[in-house]
Amino acid sequence: METLDWKNLPFGYIKTDYNIRCVYKNGKWGKLEVSSSEYIDIHIAATGLHYGQEAFEGLKAYMGKDGKIRLFRWEENAKRMISSADGVKMAAFPVELFREALFKVIDLNKKYMPPYGSGATLYIRPLLYGSGAEVGVKPATEYTFLVFVTPVGPYFKGGVKPVNMLICRDVDRAAPFGTGIYKVGGNYAASMRAIIAAREGGYANTIFLDALEKKYIDECGPANFFGIKDNTYITPKSESILNSITNMSLIEIAKSLGMKTERRQVPVEELSTFTEAGACGTAAIISPIAKIFDPGTNKVYEYCKNGEPGAQSMKLFNKLVAIQSGDEPDRFGWITILD
Ligand SMILES: Cc1ncc(COP(=O)(O)O)c(C=O)c1O
Repeated sequence: METLDWKNLPFGYIKTDYNIRCVYKNGKWGKLEVSSSEYIDIHIAATGLHYGQEAFEGLKAYMGKDGKIRLFRWEENAKRMISSADGVKMAAFPVELFREALFKVIDLNKKYMPPYGSGATLYIRPLLYGSGAEVGVKPATEYTFLVFVTPVGPYFKGGVKPVNMLICRDVDRAAPFGTGIYKVGGNYAASMRAIIAAREGGYANTIFLDALEKKYIDECGPANFFGIKDNTYITPKSESILNSITNMSLIEIAKSLGMKTERRQVPVEELSTFTEAGACGTAAIISPIAKIFDPGTNKVYEYCKNGEPGAQSMKLFNKLVAIQSGDEPDRFGWITILD
């Protein structure tokens, strides 16, 4: 095992030994190839560079107390990457090859697998892009899939801390019939101005509203939004948000804990009725929200007034983390153990 300072690792890139690549040419995917290079050789006219024909995924491998490496709902990431590929007209990377590439890249980089109890995990980043050359706007005939891993530290060092969010009213991340439901790079490029403005204002991130009416909550930067009131977990339904696998899982956990769940449009004014609010995604699982500022109305919505995360959010968080690390039995069938 590498001797890294696991507890203090950032959420950033650290070089590991190997990555896996695979090329689609003449209408079919080739064999998985192992590479020790951190670089790719790319055609100057590749559609991934010019026309944003690219998609990516993000998931984590967790070390259990039993010394076994666990993957969480990787099939959902494989399926989402197929949907994203279709969204920008790329060749789909098959689920079975996705599984093989994941298992192989983790196995080859086992020494970077953070130990149980450190809070750190092995982040897995699959990427798919148009590598064939085109000058006119059209899909490439060649694609490259690759997957690398990098160890990442606990998102909240020293315990879960509530964060402040800024509602964004002057930038749209995605349009109603656009690509917001896909995990494609263009959405992230479109969100950068808003995220930077929020950070410069001292906020952890931005909350995007629906682009058409600016009435409903879409999502929180690179995470989904949820609010809790009267034992009900409420999360936005929108045609322009990424369907978070963490959110899907929290909904199931909430139900199993006897909570009601609602997936529907969430008007901004409803923020004042929630007792708890949070952002959810693979990186932090749950970031409880302390305060939301809406510059459009000058309203401030406050939660966690004592500075502590809400009890129901923490219950959901602890349950999901316990399943991921194998501390609690996985009765949902979400975990794949790598043997
Ligand atoms: C825009 C966006 N929304 C939500 C999420 C959370 O999704 P997941 O829970 O699958 O990580 C992510 C992260 O992948 C994201 O980039």
